Amino acid sequence: MQAIDIHNHFFPRSWPDLAQRFGTPNWPWIKHTEAGKADIMVGDRLFRHIYSACWDPEVRLQEMDRDGVDMQVISATPVLFAYERPLKHALESAQLFNDAALELCSHGKGRLKSLCQVPLQDIDAACKELSRCMRAGHLGVQIGNHVAEKNLDDPGIVTFLHHCADEGAAVLVHPWDMMGQQRMPNYMMPWTVGMPAETQLSVVALILSGAFDKLPSTLRICFAHGGGSFSFLLGRLENAWHHHRVARGACQFPPRHYLNRFYVDSAVFDEPTLQFLVCTMSAERVLLGSDYPFPLGEEHAGALIRESHLSGRVKAQLLGGNAKQFLRLELGAGAGGNDESTRDGNLSAGPSEQLSYSAYLEVAELLDLQNPQSSPPHHDELLFIIVHQTYELWFKELLHDLDAVVANLQRASAHPESRDEVYEAARLLRRCTEITRVLVEQFTILETMLPTHFLAFRDKLEPASGFQSEQFRELEFLCGLKDAKMLAYHKPTPEAHRRLERRLREPSLHHVFFEALRAMGTLPAPQPGASEEQEFETRSRAILSLYKNEQHYRYWIDVCERLTEFDELVVSWRLRHIQLVERIIGIRMGTGGSAGASYLKHTLDKKFFPELWEARTLLTE
Ligand code: HEM
Repeated sequence: MQAIDIHNHFFPRSWPDLAQRFGTPNWPWIKHTEAGKADIMVGDRLFRHIYSACWDPEVRLQEMDRDGVDMQVISATPVLFAYERPLKHALESAQLFNDAALELCSHGKGRLKSLCQVPLQDIDAACKELSRCMRAGHLGVQIGNHVAEKNLDDPGIVTFLHHCADEGAAVLVHPWDMMGQQRMPNYMMPWTVGMPAETQLSVVALILSGAFDKLPSTLRICFAHGGGSFSFLLGRLENAWHHHRVARGACQFPPRHYLNRFYVDSAVFDEPTLQFLVCTMSAERVLLGSDYPFPLGEEHAGALIRESHLSGRVKAQLLGGNAKQFLRLELGAGAGGNDESTRDGNLSAGPSEQLSYSAYLEVAELLDLQNPQSSPPHHDELLFIIVHQTYELWFKELLHDLDAVVANLQRASAHPESRDEVYEAARLLRRCTEITRVLVEQFTILETMLPTHFLAFRDKLEPASGFQSEQFRELEFLCGLKDAKMLAYHKPTPEAHRRLERRLREPSLHHVFFEALRAMGTLPAPQPGASEEQEFETRSRAILSLYKNEQHYRYWIDVCERLTEFDELVVSWRLRHIQLVERIIGIRMGTGGSAGASYLKHTLDKKFFPELWEARTLLTE
């Protein structure tokens, strides 16, 4: 597994006396105390003891080997930001440290890359310095989480982030200059309490201000220290957003919607917290960050992830896979990949390395994922595994598309007069129906397996069962069939359990569809005291009214038709699955402990959108 540490710091071995150069006091300087040791001083005040790993590439490489880290992406420390200083001074010092970072990396045998810093108090100068640095070989930029009183949603800073996206620069947000320090004079509380709060503030500001709605989705931005207290208090933020208009800010969607717009690092130092972070943010959004080589950093970078109980696949994502996406390694690092050092390393970062078919699709990894349990392997077990894996891949795509349908319908609720979102929802739903059609057909391939051949390895599968297909259950929950009892099958996999719990809480496709009709005025507000049967009829009649006014509601009727077709195809899937089960194991019990085919037959009555069917009955009244 490749490990790429995206959050660690450096100090050059020496730099000019900035206090003397600029004639202003309290610049950071380095005081070498004994061989391999130094103090960072700010004016006369000791800021931090450091050791040679900060400036010596050899020491860094040795310690990276010790910890199994393939690449470090180094950045300066916030004490060097100089955001409060005159532009000229801040720019010169940024340039000095940016060039020093590249110098250090040039001795890193291609295993050291860097993020630059910019004078963020002046957006034009910051953009210019970023562009210069990207051309010189940096992979992105580290910024402080605020500039004096300006949070990250400040229009100037948002412009800068836009520029980062344009330049293909990865952005690491580091907390600094912590709030409320007068109340935290002791015990390093600015680091342990202030930093998490600062980071949470930054993420929340970017979400609620609507900045993420405006920024391009190509922006790659990561928040240090696990995103601070953000994940832990996301529920509180959501609750406020849903129940208090004033807490909504200017963003189009609930806060959770934006979780796929940013990354967080893994510097949380505790396995349950890491598990929670992965569950909240998803395994695609957490990157190895160690804070090396500082006292509050991880002693052995990556140990928390490696020694955790996360699956091998998730560990690989956290250790390096996600960082490759974040830094665009192997996909070309924008203008930054043209220095010598990026070409030497075992991880490529630049246009000199062409992306290949198999690297992009991770074909080697994919083909390594079929591990038959029978010994010696039964010939048909490979087919059994591949068919199931293919279903799971398509389930993933379905979830991806249906989530987008939900988002579009939520947007349609916010703009009932606009048709774009309704059109887009229908377009994506058509894809979902086509995928499901393939899923219905695919069972025939498995039916080429003789029942005797399946029985030859079936005992190896117990107690694994289709009941444990997390994505299938996610699909049901997402569409609106929420049955909390089914969570019990996912107890052995806490990540899946938590994801399903989240789906249970989130608004379903069924819900957002009818909310959109309500926003359009087609569906009346729920009547106090009305029974579920009465509400059901009201919803069905709302659909009826769409069909009766075809000219006006053409787009909505398209959505209805696609949803009906999807419902129909899922029932076909259930039916074909039952036929397969009967053909292969007759009426035997399932490996998940159910009565098998006879149990599955009860699921045939399940419908995601029964109102769409009821409307047809009402039409013929
Ligand atoms: C030899 C082939 C198969 C047999 C014998 C079989 C058998 C069963 C049985 C007996 C159940 C009921 C739960 C239990 O007691 O385990 C079940 C559920 C399930 N199976 Fe299969 N299955 C087969 C292939 C597949 C395939 C290819 C998929 C594709 C993903 C699949 C997905 C599911 C799902 C999602 C459930 C849960 C359904 C629900 O709760 O409504 N199965 N299967």
